Amino acid sequence: MKIAILKERHPGETRVAASPDMVKKLAGMGVDVTVEAGAGNASGILDAAFADAGATIAADPVQTLTGAEAVFKVRRPVVEGEGDIDELALIPDGALLIGLINPLADPGQFRAYAAKRLTVLAMELVPRISRAQSMDALSSQANLAGYKSVLDACIYYKRAMPLMMTAAGTLAPAKVLILGAGVAGLQAIATARRLGAVVSAFDVRPAVKGQVESLGASFVEVEGAQDAETSGGYAREMGEDYKRRQAEAIHNALKKSDICITTAQIPGRPSPRLITAGMVRDMKPGSVIVDLAAEGGGNCELTQYDQVVQTEGVAIVGFANVAARMGTDASALYARNLLNLVQPFVDKESGALVLDFEDEVIAGACAMKAGELVHPTLIENQEG
Ligand code: NAI
Repeated sequence: MKIAILKERHPGETRVAASPDMVKKLAGMGVDVTVEAGAGNASGILDAAFADAGATIAADPVQTLTGAEAVFKVRRPVVEGEGDIDELALIPDGALLIGLINPLADPGQFRAYAAKRLTVLAMELVPRISRAQSMDALSSQANLAGYKSVLDACIYYKRAMPLMMTAAGTLAPAKVLILGAGVAGLQAIATARRLGAVVSAFDVRPAVKGQVESLGASFVEVEGAQDAETSGGYAREMGEDYKRRQAEAIHNALKKSDICITTAQIPGRPSPRLITAGMVRDMKPGSVIVDLAAEGGGNCELTQYDQVVQTEGVAIVGFANVAARMGTDASALYARNLLNLVQPFVDKESGALVLDFEDEVIAGACAMKAGELVHPTLIENQEG
């Protein structure tokens, strides 16, 4: 069984879909993990580390992919015109492709996969059940992004985070507001608290109030938030009346905040607009907004994709792919997610990876099977 690991070719992507630890475990089970030379360079994992762990290092993408039964990626394969090579054309017909392929927002990719009869697991579709927590790449990457968002805020904030009592006077602690207390938001709360900030948070799912408070932050209450959580643990879109009350509460909280980190997302839909230009105008000069939802269009009306903009004295940070700015840890956690997903299906005798499509996690993550789109949400998406 040959699993191919390519160098990622999307602009700005530093991550790689393998770690020495993951290679060692798979190689120990008799799997041939072939890594393209230089695949880990951008995340600080050198070829020698992969080779020491038992990987075969291939000189180029052709060698990497020739004869591969499975291809592990971070992002979907690039096609002609997107990178220096057409990765997809080199993937053997009938292979298994696993990655963070963005299946809902990028449905066009499946036409080419169908022509190659690929089987495709989308890491975004791993079901949110307890057993699959260790395979949840959205969570592992969001965790790092939540942490980094606070550090980014510190860079653009021209004041100190903690209370500082000095001989020259006392500096008040920063007031940090977190919008969206999911995986990224909770990590942002913990990080901001560690730096000494006074933190409050808001989420449409009132169930997270306890988690927010246990991290030492206060919860911004908005009446009527009972039904915002779907069975999958995600937020659903809310009604107009609730949105108006929510906007009022956020507006008031923003006026008192120095830093706001927004993380609110709704899978497959544009990010909810939580901060209007008017609200930004009412923030204190020198305030900072870090919008972790920039890739989905942003939670703030003034966010510019992958840019930092200054408006009326407020810095609005809209970096894309924040996890990729922590390439070493992001790759390590992502590779661990991949390993946890496939490990139960590797035959210890032969080293063959034989997925069980009846398994709840595999079935949930399976977008396409031998060229046929099988995931109900994606079929609906394609028809709509
Ligand atoms: P996410 O990235 O989809 O959204 C981030 C946060 O924004 C969520 O907490 C969401 O409720 C919130 N949000 C959405 N719309 C909003 C709005 N209009 N205003 C304010 N907040 C809004 O979610 P994430 O962080 O990936 O996961 C959410 C939850 O799912 C987790 O807290 C956890 O409870 C659950 N989960 C379960 C897993 C498992 O059991 N395997 C794995 C990962 C998450």
